Amino acid sequence: MDSEAVKKQKAEVGREAVDFIKDGMIVGIGSGSTMWYLVEALGKRVQAGLNIVGVPTSKYTREHAERLGIMMKNVDEVDHIDLTIDGADQIDENYQGIKGGGASHLMEKIVAVNSRKNMWIVDETKTVKTLSYPVPLEVIPYGSKQLEKRLAKMGLNPRLRLDENQQPVLTDSKNYIIDLFLDHIDDPKELASTLDSITGIVEHGFFLDIANTIIVQHPDGPQIIN
Ligand code: 5RP
Repeated sequence: MDSEAVKKQKAEVGREAVDFIKDGMIVGIGSGSTMWYLVEALGKRVQAGLNIVGVPTSKYTREHAERLGIMMKNVDEVDHIDLTIDGADQIDENYQGIKGGGASHLMEKIVAVNSRKNMWIVDETKTVKTLSYPVPLEVIPYGSKQLEKRLAKMGLNPRLRLDENQQPVLTDSKNYIIDLFLDHIDDPKELASTLDSITGIVEHGFFLDIANTIIVQHPDGPQIIN
């Protein structure tokens, strides 16, 4: 699918998902280009009188939402989150996902695990049989070179994520990102559990058994998976 068609699906699914946000809800608001469209549409609803509180998953999302007049509170300032809507980088046939292509997966996961319901919104290129997207790891900068060597010895093909100036990408929490380039991930739970046990990794980008609803946008309309 060409990039214009992908962009169109992202815009469509972002706008459609706004209908799931009801008056009075506390809503986790994800990050990324698909969510950008949702935030724009939500801003219009709020300006028309919808009363909600948003919980951001990144500094960018918070600033974007606030510019449009959406009231935002941190995860620790609310007593619950009714629903979080977020994008995803890849989703397998068992509805397990990888997130963090935009370096926000730490905050996204904190908001997701504190939400009563989680919805992912994606264009159809994101769904696959077996996960193969680079797995992002948010890592503490101190010791990150040693960590990268250790991950390489484990055969996990790590690469420190660099920006356009060849400097390490910094997350909102001032950590680095190491991506694991793997051809196919047959057992995401096993790899996730290995990564959970490695010192220096703050959080990996596997989102397992988290999504309650997934909306996959196709050229002929949305497919809602519950
Ligand atoms: C950011 C994320 C995003 O949800 C994910 O990268 C999808 O982004 P996009 O909607 O731009 O394709 O996990 O950390």
